[in-house]
Amino acid sequence: MQIIRSVKEMQQLMLQLGNENSIGFVATMGYFHEGHLSLMKESVNENDKTITSIFVNPLQFGANEDLDRYPRDLENDSRAAEEAGVDILFVPEAIDMYPSKMTLEIITNRRTNVMCGKSRPGHFEGVATVLIKLFNIVRPDKTYFGIKDAQQASIVQALINDLNFPIELVTLPIVREPDGLAKSSRNVNLTVQERQEAIWLHKALDQGRQFVIDGNFIPAMIVKEVNKMIDDKISGTVDYVELLSYPELEPVTDTGNHFILAAAVQFSQARLIDNLIFDSEGNLTR
Ligand code: PAJ
Repeated sequence: MQIIRSVKEMQQLMLQLGNENSIGFVATMGYFHEGHLSLMKESVNENDKTITSIFVNPLQFGANEDLDRYPRDLENDSRAAEEAGVDILFVPEAIDMYPSKMTLEIITNRRTNVMCGKSRPGHFEGVATVLIKLFNIVRPDKTYFGIKDAQQASIVQALINDLNFPIELVTLPIVREPDGLAKSSRNVNLTVQERQEAIWLHKALDQGRQFVIDGNFIPAMIVKEVNKMIDDKISGTVDYVELLSYPELEPVTDTGNHFILAAAVQFSQARLIDNLIFDSEGNLTR
């Protein structure tokens, strides 16, 4: 596996490599767990070459967020990526990705005024900006994203469509710990007690889905119940619980399609998110 740090070098290499090979790309912020690795392995299965980037993108962190606390371990990540079959690990420096203040700015009109977009203003604009840059550097045929960040995946699909990137988005299911907690690089920032409480995120969402299975598709009631359940069980604070259409992330007006029940919780040193995506009968569809 090659490790490349220079943006220019990466861009030149990909221009050559992409001519003769199908390219799969996994964008990450590092500190790999099975969730990240599932994306890399799928890409390795489906493409001639797999590229993974590690870049903790300052643009997508708010002023009071955990940019400085974001966990990093390049040595371990390199080993794991190599074992997963990754061909090139792209690890640019912030100064190389953003050498000067940008003249252009990405603005989103839809899909970002709810869920994490509402509580993290500017976050998805930062995500979109870095992904446009990474897509232009790597020029992949396919890119792999986890449904763990379902709102992000929905915005990536919109970005690909709106800006005509010749890239296929592949989304993969949430990889969970045996007790149901969604794997996240941020789980290491939970205290022992918070780690035990955190399972209620998934448990409560699943209880919410149970209302749909039982034929009680009443969004306001489900949101309220799930919110209460999480709030009762954890020491942190509930940031949001929302039930929306997926991938449009619009209010649920009819029950004909796919839906997302999502929650975010702020613990002392970590903000965790989780979701379930299901049809009008409550059957999981992702
Ligand atoms: P990061 O949080 O490192 O996640 C990288 C990819 O791994 C994302 O597509 C995310 O959805 C996926 N992922 C994380 N946890 C997962 C889990 N438990 N199961 C399945 N997939 C999981 O998301 C980002 O980085 C950044 O916003 C990025 C896209 C790299 C832009 O900076």
